[in-house]
Amino acid sequence: MTRVAAVLAAALLVLAGIPANAADPAAGQAKSGMCATCHGKNGIGTAPNYPNLAGQKSQYLAQQMHLFRSRERKSEQMNIIAQPLSDQDIQDLAAYYESLPAGGS
Ligand code: HEC
Repeated sequence: MTRVAAVLAAALLVLAGIPANAADPAAGQAKSGMCATCHGKNGIGTAPNYPNLAGQKSQYLAQQMHLFRSRERKSEQMNIIAQPLSDQDIQDLAAYYESLPAGGS
């Protein structure tokens, strides 16, 4: 095996261990900057009409974001905000908010 092939094989082995679509809370945190305006840095809504997300189940959060994106769930604000989110963004954000303590911190 050439050196290049050996390096490539090693890289593939490393990549194979990391599913590309795993939900990543750290990546979600990095993507949550603008969400914090309304849902709070700690996932607690900053006004009475902004729901808390902290500690909510990620499957539910992801489902709501998909529904906002497809406009099956109507919300003037969230329909616009969810538009540019990829499936990966949604998974990461949902995992991040689930990881936060429900009562805030
Ligand atoms: C301008 C304020 C605003 C911003 C910014 C915002 N949201 Fe929201 N979000 C809302 C409002 C208002 C609702 C409630 C919508 C409704 O009336 O159904 C909501 C609802 C949600 C829900 C559903 C909660 C539930 O219990 O059903 C999720 C999930 C959510 N937002 C995620 C996000 C994420 C992730 C971001 C950042 C990418 C974000 N939001 C940015 C205002 C905002």
